[in-house]
Amino acid sequence: MIKNDLYLKALRGETVERPPVWMMRQAGRFLPEFRAMRDEYDFFTRCSTPELASEITMMPIRRFPLDAAILFSDILVVPQAMGMDFEMRDGIGPWLEKPIRTLEDVQNIEVPDVDETLGYVFDAIEMTLHKLDNDIPLIGFAGSPWTILCYCVEGKGSKAWDVAKSFCFRNPEAAHILLQKITDTTIAYLKRKVEKGVSAVQVFDSWGGCLSPEDYQIFSYQYINQIVEALSPLTHVVVFGKGCWFALEEMTMSKVSALGVDWTITPESARKLTNHTMTLQGNFDPNRLNSSPETITKMVTEMINRFGKDRYIANLGHGILPNIPLENAEAFIRAVVDWKPN
Ligand code: CP3
Repeated sequence: MIKNDLYLKALRGETVERPPVWMMRQAGRFLPEFRAMRDEYDFFTRCSTPELASEITMMPIRRFPLDAAILFSDILVVPQAMGMDFEMRDGIGPWLEKPIRTLEDVQNIEVPDVDETLGYVFDAIEMTLHKLDNDIPLIGFAGSPWTILCYCVEGKGSKAWDVAKSFCFRNPEAAHILLQKITDTTIAYLKRKVEKGVSAVQVFDSWGGCLSPEDYQIFSYQYINQIVEALSPLTHVVVFGKGCWFALEEMTMSKVSALGVDWTITPESARKLTNHTMTLQGNFDPNRLNSSPETITKMVTEMINRFGKDRYIANLGHGILPNIPLENAEAFIRAVVDWKPN
């Protein structure tokens, strides 16, 4: 049904002539047409207007020979639906005026009806699928409960997430209630995305790597695994844990179809930790797209040769940076599309 199903073949572990390719944050600020739209509509207006969200989703697809589209949205639409009024502030990024800091704050949060609060996302999926015309699969996504908690408690971005972590260690009861509410909302949200027709869902655990391996189990992985258990009977689930190489072995025993890896692990180690059986996605350092197109081509070819063409989805190890020249992004994608076995 989907004309180019390389991405789905890789998720199913089937043999392919070359690996599929897409880039995290491909619908984003490195595209001039995205920046132009940015001057006209603020960030969450673009997320909550299906016409705009579906148009932005298509921007990289119209430009490059990508093997999957990812719906333009944000992980923070989930806490917004739960009543937290996130804004996107210039020069700051995500911003929550009244962060969650107490058990009482947590008790006041509700698990919303996703159709009432996030209907615009489901409408955007419908419009995007129409525009894609079954050419390539559409990926739906959500943040991991831990990564969402980080923003809810900290109220803005952070490097070490000290406020979020101290909240968890001082008030584990409140933290677990919040994590469970986020998990329940996320499961309902992703299930509805699947009903609307996305071909796979990816869970972004962008800040899981800030936790120790033990705390990762307690505050992140057990909630991610609830999502995996709930969604894997319905669709492919991909989990990307930034800096979470220490959890790859355990994640391999779950029902995920693929695991995302960043550039701090070698392809060989990632293969070893995942028993040589798992489909892996990654792991080009996004900053390496600042190298020349020739260097990028060489490095990408080597990356594929090291991961192997099967059970592999070529991608970056995190989102593409805003300053990347179009021809460099194109060199990355072309190197995968033109890859040949030696
Ligand atoms: O991959 C895609 O192209 C799909 C769209 C997408 C966006 N955000 C669009 C976006 C996806 C998958 C996300 C996920 C997301 N959002 C994550 C997880 C992935 C990751 O990168 O770790 C996180 C942590 C967020 C929260 C968030 N949203 C941050 C930290 C920022 C950057 C703030 C800044 O200005 O530095 C955003 C904004 C955002 N989300 C932009 C885009 C294209 C940039 C918005 C703009 O400047 O107009």
